[in-house]
Amino acid sequence: MTKLDDKISESNLKLPPWLVGEIRSDHAGETGAIWIYRGVLATTRDAEVRDFAERHIQTEMKHLELLEGWLAESERSSLLPMWKVAGFITGALPALFGATSTYATVEAVEAFVVRHYGAQITILAELKEHAQLCDILVQCCEDEVAHGFEAHSLKRNNLNMLLRAWCHMIDIGSGLAVNVARRI
Ligand SMILES: [Fe+2]
Ligand SMILES: [Fe+2]
Repeated sequence: MTKLDDKISESNLKLPPWLVGEIRSDHAGETGAIWIYRGVLATTRDAEVRDFAERHIQTEMKHLELLEGWLAESERSSLLPMWKVAGFITGALPALFGATSTYATVEAVEAFVVRHYGAQITILAELKEHAQLCDILVQCCEDEVAHGFEAHSLKRNNLNMLLRAWCHMIDIGSGLAVNVARRI
């Protein structure tokens, strides 16, 4: 175990249950994010979309690794297999319909994630506790902002009604998933 691991484990011991729930939801979300891109890569042959997904998946894996240091295996969501399937479908389905639907999906997911991380960062900053954890969330959030901007700028067409409805569903579904992952 490295010194950094020791430090992270120590901090983990001090996390109150509500914060463990919050980080569990982040960990579930980052797992889902990796699987969104796996879904995209499983269904698209568009070179630009593949490059986008391959780059983003690397960042999401880094996020997951950062969060894993804060959660014992027993504290992670017991529904991880479900989050993986949900992520895969969330990536694979729009990728079947083309680049714009894929980018719009990622933009919708990231908009939600940025709000989610932002709320957690605000609370931790106000508490002035768990500064190390707060820094990690800030780092993840900054990457998600960049992902969202990139997805927004790469869209090739305007969103039709169906795609707008899909993005709205993603927002609602992500909120439900966070509430479940906080508990289970
Ligand atoms: Fe992420
Ligand atoms: Fe992201």
